[in-house]
Amino acid sequence: MAGNLPRPYRSVGNRDGSGKRREVSTDQPNPRAAPRQPLIGPTRTGPVPTRGPETNVRDTTKDLLIAIAGGAFDQHERVLEILKSAFAGQDGIVDPPSSVTRLTVEGVIRDAEAGDLLTAETRKDPAPPGETSEGDIVGCLFTKVEEDADGPLLYAYHLAVDPAYQGHGIGHRLFDTVTALAAARQIRRLQIMSRIELKELHAFFTGMGFRQVGTFTHDGYEQPTSLRFEKQL
Ligand SMILES: CC(C)(COP(=O)(O)OP(=O)(O)OC[C@H]1O[C@@H](n2cnc3c(N)ncnc32)[C@H](O)[C@@H]1OP(=O)(O)O)[C@@H](O)C(=O)NCCC(=O)NCCS
Repeated sequence: MAGNLPRPYRSVGNRDGSGKRREVSTDQPNPRAAPRQPLIGPTRTGPVPTRGPETNVRDTTKDLLIAIAGGAFDQHERVLEILKSAFAGQDGIVDPPSSVTRLTVEGVIRDAEAGDLLTAETRKDPAPPGETSEGDIVGCLFTKVEEDADGPLLYAYHLAVDPAYQGHGIGHRLFDTVTALAAARQIRRLQIMSRIELKELHAFFTGMGFRQVGTFTHDGYEQPTSLRFEKQL
């Protein structure tokens, strides 16, 4: 797939046989780079907050930056574009249609404010200290803290990687960062839902250590329409 990426979507990196990423730079200027929050702060005890400085977790390599969108983030339209293009592949497959088909930029902003929005961004070069790297946002994942009978959990949703960048490990990297985010908040469980029809996606989640813990049935349907997966941290 990496050889077929259309411009401006160049491969952002790949793993060779050793499991390491190879360095592949993008060559497009990016007018959309936005300031990011600083690195992770100290962990804390007490009630689990929905947001806060302790959530400042990020995963940085030369070719990809995964960060929590901070207050200065202004690329919600790009996030919506990624969601729409990534979920378009499910049109006609999942029933009922994904909520992403009805999602608006206002909805993206609302969801980002209700919890945390993680973005994966290509990096042209490592940013000098104190400066922001330039790149394109190519993936996203939203999280929010929820609670059930077993205590708090971090619910992850709207996971999407730009189709031109899929299959390069970005989805895994987003989940690695969410795991760090949960750990920083002292939350021991991650959950995500997947539509029942998407068997490859179920394998993707179980491959990352999730197991099915329940089902969900949309209003008006008699059979489960989604599976709930959980990973204990
Ligand atoms: C699900 C989704 C986010 C995965 O993103 P991704 O970046 O392609 O995921 P990854 O590359 O980390 O892993 C996916 C597969 O790509 C392959 N892959 C991973 N790294 C790779 C690499 N460096 N080189 C080649 N292939 C690779 C693997 O087959 C991997 O599956 P595995 O779990 O068996 O290893 C993406 O397919 C997507 O946006 N789908 C549409 C939206 C969607 O369904 N969201 C989930 C709703 S719950």
